[in-house]
Amino acid sequence: MINGQELAFPPGFAWGVATASYQIEGGAKEDGRGASIWDTFTAREGTVINGDTGETACDHFHRYPEDVALIAELGFPKYRFSVSWPRVMPDGKTLQPSGIAFYDRLVDELLSQGIDPMVTLYHWDLPQALEDTGGWRVRDTAARFADYAATVYSALGDRVQDWTTLNEPFCSAFLGYGNGVHAPGVTEPGTALVAAHHLLLAHGLGMDVLRTAASPEQRFSIVLNFSPVLVDVDDEAHREAARKFDGMHNRMFLDPVLGRGYPEDVLGDVAHLQALEPAIQDGDLKTITAPIDWIGVNYYAPTRVAPLPDPTEPSNCGLPGQRGFNVLPPRGALTSFGWEQTPESLTDLLLWLHRHCPDVPLVVAENGAAFPDAVDFDGRIRDGERIHYFAEHLRAVHRAIEQGADVRGYLAWSLLDNFEWAMGYSQRFGLVHVDFDTQQRTIKDSARFFSRVVAANAIPD
Ligand code: NOJ
Repeated sequence: MINGQELAFPPGFAWGVATASYQIEGGAKEDGRGASIWDTFTAREGTVINGDTGETACDHFHRYPEDVALIAELGFPKYRFSVSWPRVMPDGKTLQPSGIAFYDRLVDELLSQGIDPMVTLYHWDLPQALEDTGGWRVRDTAARFADYAATVYSALGDRVQDWTTLNEPFCSAFLGYGNGVHAPGVTEPGTALVAAHHLLLAHGLGMDVLRTAASPEQRFSIVLNFSPVLVDVDDEAHREAARKFDGMHNRMFLDPVLGRGYPEDVLGDVAHLQALEPAIQDGDLKTITAPIDWIGVNYYAPTRVAPLPDPTEPSNCGLPGQRGFNVLPPRGALTSFGWEQTPESLTDLLLWLHRHCPDVPLVVAENGAAFPDAVDFDGRIRDGERIHYFAEHLRAVHRAIEQGADVRGYLAWSLLDNFEWAMGYSQRFGLVHVDFDTQQRTIKDSARFFSRVVAANAIPD
């Protein structure tokens, strides 16, 4: 209750939890799975903290019945997971029946427990075989993605209603090919822009095949990561710094999906790289604009920026071709990842999206926080900081809905502590604790909290 008023969400609001294949599955060599770019990347020294890899991760490949039982016990109605392309097609092209069989079992298990599966087709684990022929640098990978989407749909489409093409193409392109922090670890800003275009093209081509095969009640989406920009001073130089970061981080991926093409100002900012426009062929932007049923909004933290005196000085932001501003250190109480906790930015983001694309419903497809999580003497995990983070961000979503944003659902990141990419196992985002030595799962207090929210369809006082 706030001022005697319960913060109830609209009837039918979609609640759930999310994971991704490489982060939880393990079983890296089971049933004919091929190598992904993350297997190759993590094998390279110095890429991931502690030399961690996803080879075993949460061993979800073997323990999925236990994990599905946890989702059921906690009463989460929806489960967003991703399919590993190299498990389904080890060479990126040819179906491996024993690979898709894993997802067949998983979907059946979810349905038998009354949980709605939400499938993400691509959450960053490109088959290494496709990287070897160019990866997201080449158009052909987009065509391969469309074939892969059709293959997964023909196996699971009879039971899965909600489909997402790509998760955070920003990361695949800009962290994978731009600053090299993610697989495949390439550091070429121009290539990163080309990769972004090919990823968006993959989304569009994938949407075409999915729509053609789908029944009318099935829903299709793309999940984008947004970081609202904050500045300290309201003057032209700061507004310009904010425009640049917002353009490259947020509008660069959203606008083409909405049918607006790449933002002109962003094209101007990166013109000196002479990379993006040559990669765009006639008809591409139309393909990318395939109508979607909802946009997945991943939100963790805002970004603070300030102008540099010299507009041509390279930015420290790590995004391709950016100049004339820097990202400032985060402020206030940080998560263990070092990210800000600024729930107001989530309200602002959802309201901005609603103004920017009023006809497209929004689903918060990921939101959550990493904290160190001590296991107490009695085995309980009293993760009060995470409860606080969730409570504040849920209030932020509620405020956005009250002010008119069409938000249809909220999925917490993540069901389990898992392999946090370049940070390995050092960052725990789970509602459920995982002991990576024993694979024991322990429900954290935050999971109980979220479970009460879901059951009540409201934020408890
Ligand atoms: C977004 C990504 O989709 C997910 O894979 C990652 O673990 C979280 N951000 C936290 O960094």
